Amino acid sequence: MPSFNKSSSPPPIGVFDSGIGGLTVVAELRRALPLERILYLGDTARVPYGGKSAETVTRYSREISDLLLSEGAKMIVVACNTASALAVPTLAPAYPVPMIGVLEPGAAAAVKATRSGRIGVIGTRATIGSEAYSKAINSLNPDLSVTAIACPLLVPLIEEGLFDDEVTKTVLQRYLDPMLSQGIDTLVLGCTHYPLLKKAIRTICGDGIQLVDSAENCAIAVNSLLAAGSGNARGPRLDILLTDSSEGFLRIAEKSLDLKIDSLSVRSVGN
Ligand code: DGL
Repeated sequence: MPSFNKSSSPPPIGVFDSGIGGLTVVAELRRALPLERILYLGDTARVPYGGKSAETVTRYSREISDLLLSEGAKMIVVACNTASALAVPTLAPAYPVPMIGVLEPGAAAAVKATRSGRIGVIGTRATIGSEAYSKAINSLNPDLSVTAIACPLLVPLIEEGLFDDEVTKTVLQRYLDPMLSQGIDTLVLGCTHYPLLKKAIRTICGDGIQLVDSAENCAIAVNSLLAAGSGNARGPRLDILLTDSSEGFLRIAEKSLDLKIDSLSVRSVGN
């Protein structure tokens, strides 16, 4: 596969995540904006972000955003709930291009979806600890009840490609059971890795619970932002930068998400 060549390409939408999770956002962006060029950075050298402090996640996010900007990104999509919760509020005002996270679009979709007023949220320890989802949901409607549970074992299982594995199903059951007994009717997949487990989550939750996918809702928000002015697509392209080589990355991108990758390079970020 060829490596990435900046000069020959139109300004991309810059997208990043700690690892493969942000590819679920890329897949939705591809569907919503088939002509855009996307430059994706997966911080595979430092995944997972979910157990790290706000200072560390903000530093990583700044380093990556600077790199995407230096590659000509016309906007930055933070395809990571952890970075959206911990870093976007500080970083977004400081960047000369729009920076959009996954959290607000997911929270708004959950508020719209619930009928019973009881919403569940699953995410990394850092995302749940920040209470960013509860705050975003309750700022839209203070009467809604939010039950949030951290699921720290899921990202490593997903990075290993164990989507349909008995171990993953057992872990999911253990995380979801207490939430299901509280009578939620809407479950926010508050980590961009989790849509890769949608099938297993659906089996455990049954059909009566609406699954809110932050990837899908972020793509809808990017689409309306571009429609409002910054679109200049000239042809589809997906260039991928990883901060360390990752064996499973291509397999998951191509097989599970059906993404066509035009170039893949390893690039170091930070010190
Ligand atoms: N996919 C990310 C998120 O949405 C990061 C997970 C991690 O690195 O722990 O939170």
